[in-house]
Amino acid sequence: MTIWAVANQKGGVGKTTTVISLAGALRQRGERVLVVDLDPHASLSSYLGLDPEQTDDGVYSLFLKAVGEAPVNGGPRVRHTGADDIDILPASPALAVLDRKYGTRTGMGVVLQRGLGGLKGEWDHVILDCPPMLGILMVNALAACDQLVIPVQTEFLALNGLRRMLRTLEMIGRSRGVVPDYLIVPTQFDRRTRASLQSLYTLRDEFAPHVWEQVIPVDTRFREASRLGRPLTTLSPEARGARAYDALCRDLMSSDKQLREVAS
Ligand SMILES: Nc1ncnc2c1ncn2[C@@H]1O[C@H](COP(=O)(O)OP(=O)(O)O)[C@@H](O)[C@H]1O
Ligand SMILES: [Mg+2]
Repeated sequence: MTIWAVANQKGGVGKTTTVISLAGALRQRGERVLVVDLDPHASLSSYLGLDPEQTDDGVYSLFLKAVGEAPVNGGPRVRHTGADDIDILPASPALAVLDRKYGTRTGMGVVLQRGLGGLKGEWDHVILDCPPMLGILMVNALAACDQLVIPVQTEFLALNGLRRMLRTLEMIGRSRGVVPDYLIVPTQFDRRTRASLQSLYTLRDEFAPHVWEQVIPVDTRFREASRLGRPLTTLSPEARGARAYDALCRDLMSSDKQLREVAS
């Protein structure tokens, strides 16, 4: 089982879109996929048809169990969805209180890493959708993942957010001993606009070896896919956006393979 995390402290950069699109691309290849929604806003859970008011037995329950409190409804419970048979451990608004209630307890940074193995089900891949703020949930995702994907919108102000994200990564890496392998993915790229082109050049200049060599284009069909609660990669595999995410999926899988070879 390999674990990918998708994170950026900025909202609206395409994290959730990246998670659902990669999940679909993996399903297209016959891989078994679990997605984990770590964002208290629960956009991914809603995308897949769940009501976030009724999902405290998801990620929240995993954390309650870790601190010795009674988990909700016997959770943590993975939900099977009709969206291409993607499984999800859902988020709920209660996740927003974790930092305040348990943020200072020791061992809180590895709850997810330890808890994933205990979930009922078998998967080839787990993908973690991170909240847009630094806190216990993001720390857990960074500790648990084999690879980290950082979507960055190709627009002028996005690079500041990226620098902040990389400082966070370094900080967490120092306490953990390692920084996960990360790949910066330019998203919502519009080749007709100067802002998109210039920020892509700057990205490649400044962060070179870590920037994915392709881009995720702007594609209005993502909106249609989200309305239907399906990944664009399975709904319309021929769409430009879907093809780009499929290529990203392929590259991440081949990096997984390389990481395994190095480890063995
Ligand atoms: N490549 C893209 N082309 C067009 N719209 C996109 C693209 N990626 C994301 N979006 C849209 O942008 C909005 C924010 O994306 P989302 O994935 O929810 O970001 P985040 O999870 O980082 O907050 C959503 O409405 C989504 O449909
Ligand atoms: Mg999101």
